[in-house]
Amino acid sequence: MTNTPPVCNYEGSDYQQSFWEQGGRQYEDLAEGIAFKRVLPKNGKLMLELGAGAGRNTPRYAGFDRVVLLDYSTTQLAQAQEKLGRSDKYIFVAADIYRLPFLNHSFDSATMIRALHHMADAPKALSQIRNVLQPQAIFILEFANKLNLKAIFRYWLGRQTWNPFTLEPVEFVKLNFDFHPKAIRNWLTNLGFNIEKTLTVSHFRLGILKRLIPARWLATLDGIFQLSGRFFQLTPSVFVKAIVKEEGEQTTPPANLIELFKCPNCGSGNLADKRDHLLCPSCKAEWAVQDGIYDFREKRNSH
Ligand SMILES: C[S@@+](CC[C@H](N)C(=O)[O-])C[C@H]1O[C@@H](n2cnc3c(N)ncnc32)[C@H](O)[C@@H]1O
Ligand SMILES: [Zn+2]
Repeated sequence: MTNTPPVCNYEGSDYQQSFWEQGGRQYEDLAEGIAFKRVLPKNGKLMLELGAGAGRNTPRYAGFDRVVLLDYSTTQLAQAQEKLGRSDKYIFVAADIYRLPFLNHSFDSATMIRALHHMADAPKALSQIRNVLQPQAIFILEFANKLNLKAIFRYWLGRQTWNPFTLEPVEFVKLNFDFHPKAIRNWLTNLGFNIEKTLTVSHFRLGILKRLIPARWLATLDGIFQLSGRFFQLTPSVFVKAIVKEEGEQTTPPANLIELFKCPNCGSGNLADKRDHLLCPSCKAEWAVQDGIYDFREKRNSH
């Protein structure tokens, strides 16, 4: 197996309930919804949702013919399945973003929301994503911004040792990283993306404002301020819409999406469908298929 950075483990986590549903984050969710409306195309063929978690954002991709939800945690994917139901529209894949199990040029769009946050080697993760995108594909990336006003003031007041103005990521809690907007721009540009839009999100992530002002109003106001992201980014969260600059035709995805998979062990395509597993024709690795989830994290021991 290749050497890849550690994964932040969400297996068994109640993230969706504790962070979103009981965590008082209606404002942040609504503000993200407004940002999505600005960056998502009305329709598309095949969307890859990276770090999909419990599928909080997936209903926002309703205009896409099919959506591949990818996450390292099977318990998060199981929650997403429960929320979205099983149908041909959604494909659930347990895999590591650093070892994506797809052939190059598979998707016409991808999103990664609140997941780059856990990448110890963000450029490596972004280059994996770039490989699986088609020419002119759309990539919507949300990242946690180290250059946010709270961090700047804390730094100036001597309450924080790390410098929000420098380009390197900051790991403020183990496997939780904030990034400098310029570093993100540099990485995306070097990988051949054109940045089409930048929106600043969650301008009003302050307990007192969230208590005093209804979430809907605060989100509407946020929606107006989001456009200032074009000029400067000082919010804790930033959305970027990037387009793959490569010339060329987009191809129509196959009816059977198994044809897009590749073996993360050896890179071979043409995995054979053996019902409870996929078999790699080259290295003979077996990848489990269980409860509607394709599991590419660890090879299964052959039976
Ligand atoms: C903070 S949650 C965000 C979930 C969802 N995007 C949302 O906004 O509600 C981060 C997700 O990224 C997943 N994740 C973290 N590292 C990963 C990796 N290396 N490969 C695949 N998924 C990963 C976690 O399992 C978790 O579900
Ligand atoms: Zn293989």
